Amino acid sequence: MAVSYKELGLVNSKEIFAKAVAGGYAIPAYNFNNLEQMQAIVMACVETKSPVILQVSSGARKYANATLLRNMAKGAVEYAKELGYEIPIVLHLDHGDTFELCKDCIENGFSSVMIDGSSHSYEDNIALTKKVVEYAHAHDVTVEGELGVLAGVEDDVVAEHSSYTRPEEVEDFVKRTGVDSLAISIGTSHGAHKFTPEQCTRNADGILVPPPLKFDILEEIEKRIPGFPIVLHGSSSVPQEHVATINKYGGAMKEAVGIPEEQLRRAAKSAVCKINIDSDGRLAMTAAIRKVMAEKPEEFDPRKYLGPARDSLKELYMHKNKNVLGSAGKA
Ligand code: G3H
Ligand code: 13P
Ligand code: ZN
Repeated sequence: MAVSYKELGLVNSKEIFAKAVAGGYAIPAYNFNNLEQMQAIVMACVETKSPVILQVSSGARKYANATLLRNMAKGAVEYAKELGYEIPIVLHLDHGDTFELCKDCIENGFSSVMIDGSSHSYEDNIALTKKVVEYAHAHDVTVEGELGVLAGVEDDVVAEHSSYTRPEEVEDFVKRTGVDSLAISIGTSHGAHKFTPEQCTRNADGILVPPPLKFDILEEIEKRIPGFPIVLHGSSSVPQEHVATINKYGGAMKEAVGIPEEQLRRAAKSAVCKINIDSDGRLAMTAAIRKVMAEKPEEFDPRKYLGPARDSLKELYMHKNKNVLGSAGKA
């Protein structure tokens, strides 16, 4: 039996995106796969009074089970209230690749879906996206489309090379598909290794400095579709302190580099109203777990390492909301 997101107390992205574009901030879209990640997201967003998008990839659905994830999202709404402040919560499918997957999510409590047709030809992307939009809108569910290809792993799709979004296509794409928001490619990419050392310069401390995002493309897109909600994927900053902790306690993360937070802050002030962050959370959790494992080898209670991992995640998300996305205080 189908379950509507409205029964779960969730909202779609329409109103929160309109407010974010007008207010010059971005809504955080944090991926979750388990209880501790969900708890950290809700605690951080309630404490900072931020709207939030709980983001689920198809890999997360396979890992954690669709029924459990739906009920966790329902639990997140109730948990936020219990923590003392009601925030808008969206349950969003990240990188949906087929109409059937989007439909299944819509029938299972998702209030927003992404159909990522970016690996298809322009016309096939339009046809697939339009089909999803028609079904989703009939259920009051919002849809994110994508134009341009991000390098790195797009869920199960791996693109070796990125191609920037072509501003001359965005107006036509938005008009013909009816999407509610558009993910664009301006130099971000998925994962913890966003650029090769050859693509970067080094600062005085030898830290890799990546090339800047293509703000000229973003501005051109904004000119063509003024006020239309824009999404940035692949927006982890890859905090070097977490990378260092991972490496200190037995990890092997070489030359990991992300998007500098000042650039994300600048993007959030524009029509970019949703910023996707997954890898930074993975790094924060892994660093905290490795530290406990190394310093307290006698521990075998999962709460003793998942607890600190959750605390570190919460701190990361609070920082992002307050200092990077500008979403704190907007709920
Ligand atoms: O864009 C990809 C997200 O970080 C989700 O990653 O497919 O490994 O769950 P995943
Ligand atoms: P990161 O890998 O940069 O965290 O990007 C996550 C993302 O875009 C999820 O869709
Ligand atoms: Zn993504």
